[in-house]
Amino acid sequence: MKIGVLSGGGDAPGINAVIRAVVRKGIQNYGYEIVGIKDGWRGILEADFSRLDLKSVSGILHRGGSILGTSRTNPFKREKGPEKIIENAKKAGIEAVVVIGGDDTLRVAYKMGEYGLKCVGVPKTIDNDLWGTDYTFGFHTAVAIATEALDRLHTTAEAHHRVMILEVMGRYTGWIALEAGIAGGADAILIPEKPFDIEEVCEFIKRRQERGRNFSIIVVAEGAKPKGGKEIVYSESVDEFGHIRFGGVGYFLGKEIEKCLGIETRVVVLGHLQRGGSPTAFDRVLATRYGIAAIDLVHRRKFGRMVALQGNKIVSVPLKDVVGKRKNVDLELYEIASVFFG
Ligand code: F6P
Repeated sequence: MKIGVLSGGGDAPGINAVIRAVVRKGIQNYGYEIVGIKDGWRGILEADFSRLDLKSVSGILHRGGSILGTSRTNPFKREKGPEKIIENAKKAGIEAVVVIGGDDTLRVAYKMGEYGLKCVGVPKTIDNDLWGTDYTFGFHTAVAIATEALDRLHTTAEAHHRVMILEVMGRYTGWIALEAGIAGGADAILIPEKPFDIEEVCEFIKRRQERGRNFSIIVVAEGAKPKGGKEIVYSESVDEFGHIRFGGVGYFLGKEIEKCLGIETRVVVLGHLQRGGSPTAFDRVLATRYGIAAIDLVHRRKFGRMVALQGNKIVSVPLKDVVGKRKNVDLELYEIASVFFG
């Protein structure tokens, strides 16, 4: 049996660990032939394939990025896209595809199921906002990087008596901001799920000053917006899945704080540093478990499902229950974080 594997959407540390697990178990245990599909759905639309053997996945466990590349190609935005995919898969003898992706990529996998493409999904995104799984791989690494950034900002903020703002990724949910903010001892955490009030943020900073703490650390998710206002976008152009590019809320906030309190405020946008480089040990293990579970699902012919982590167990859930939904931050966790605000 010939199995394809692709990674789509924004990369996340751990993709290579998934690919390695799929290839190793697929070849060693099941005798499959594994085909790498280049750059997400683009590769199958354009028949851009390469055979993956044990050698091609050797030495990649710890590497960030994706040996297959990735893209935000949406086949449903291309002339006869789905039909071309079915035709190219048939021609190449690909019987099923392991799809590593976030909501957009997995939504395509679900819809392609209706055209007859057999898919199994693997939940990937640093944003951790996929429904049906406690954790997506890549998130733990992003949180670790953001936490380290906060530790570093802490010492310089303290020395200069400044307000430091760290803008992290998270378009629609504030998982990275929340967990890194708790781990890094943030004095305020602003997330898309809870529009923020500038005056309240300034109150937190003033409260700290009254306690003799003349520096503050604020974490803001890129998709956070002020109460009654709109998200701050970097550019109005949208990708093939209709997403706008966020960016700039940190600077907006910094200016407002300086206006309201007259305290020097500096801004750091962490950006793609959160996505690049080696996965943490946690993400390597999770991605490996996901890859093994995905090829096992293929072997059991359980298509149209996504592997997931629930508690400490790897399970699978129907793709139709996952796509189009969003896992917002745990508000109980936000309550815990807010004890430390101000
Ligand atoms: O969806 C994951 C994510 O990292 C978001 O947090 C971020 O807004 C987006 O991808 C950035 O994507 P790109 O690298 O395509 O600009």
